[in-house]
Amino acid sequence: MFQYHCLNPIAGVGLANFNENYQQTESLEGADAVLVRSAAMHGMELPKSLLAVARAGAGVNNIPLADCAEQGIVVFNTPGANANGVKELVLAGMLLASRDIAGGIEWVKSDKEDGDIAKTAEKQKKKFAGCEISGKKLGIIGLGAIGQLVANAATHLGMEVYGYDPYISVDAAWNLSRDIHHIQNVEDIYRNCDYITIHVPLLDSTKGMINKAAIEEMKDGVVLLNYARDLLVDEDAVLAALKAGKMKKYVTDFANPKVVGAEGTIVTPHLGASTKESEDNCAVMAVKEIRDFLENGNIKNS
Ligand code: MLT
Repeated sequence: MFQYHCLNPIAGVGLANFNENYQQTESLEGADAVLVRSAAMHGMELPKSLLAVARAGAGVNNIPLADCAEQGIVVFNTPGANANGVKELVLAGMLLASRDIAGGIEWVKSDKEDGDIAKTAEKQKKKFAGCEISGKKLGIIGLGAIGQLVANAATHLGMEVYGYDPYISVDAAWNLSRDIHHIQNVEDIYRNCDYITIHVPLLDSTKGMINKAAIEEMKDGVVLLNYARDLLVDEDAVLAALKAGKMKKYVTDFANPKVVGAEGTIVTPHLGASTKESEDNCAVMAVKEIRDFLENGNIKNS
């Protein structure tokens, strides 16, 4: 009988089906396998018993990969399991950056005591006017599971989509609408696109990739969206670009104090994968991967 431990509970469904020895714990002592969502495992003692770690999510930057490799611990993630949840938030982020939905809602709430709100609203609505995303150019950096879904959805919304990914597989390319332009170098995305969204993992090679020089290449009035990882973006450079009017909006799913409340930013608290469906999908996929490994010896990211 195997011992499964879970750090940062992920979702009910997969875990409930797991087995009677599943425990929710902060200690890994005695565990054969660990399921983890966002808890940072760096610096944690990895017991000798540990055979596998499964990350319920795509990114593995909260797992000490080198230590796991050294101890022969197999690491799984759940690629694509939460991609739809993230895609939908990216679309919402583009719309929030284009239409002053948040400002309009706030104004209606704060002015509702002032006489005939419907009449005043008609006069006020000019100041909440926005622009449409249809017909605009969207650049997607990274065409993995999330990038592909965003690309296809954005073409359906009438956007002209440019995708850049130096590692795109033939399978992934087949999943993309034929209307998507494949760009050979990222600078073409910077120079051409009205909206730019990043969907790459955090690696040494991608850390800080959206820096001052990259932003300088971008079109004036660009909207930058970051639902991937905060450290991909040099946020000091972003704040300077917002201040200078070079960048119109910075939409980020990472609530760093630096950007929260800053003019031109739209910040959410890492909600991309926080839907019931995504959490269930990740939990189920992670559990299946671990069970298949422990019980059958298979090493397979679903
Ligand atoms: C991911 O890497 O897929 C996300 O960070 C998942 C999450 O929000 O837990």
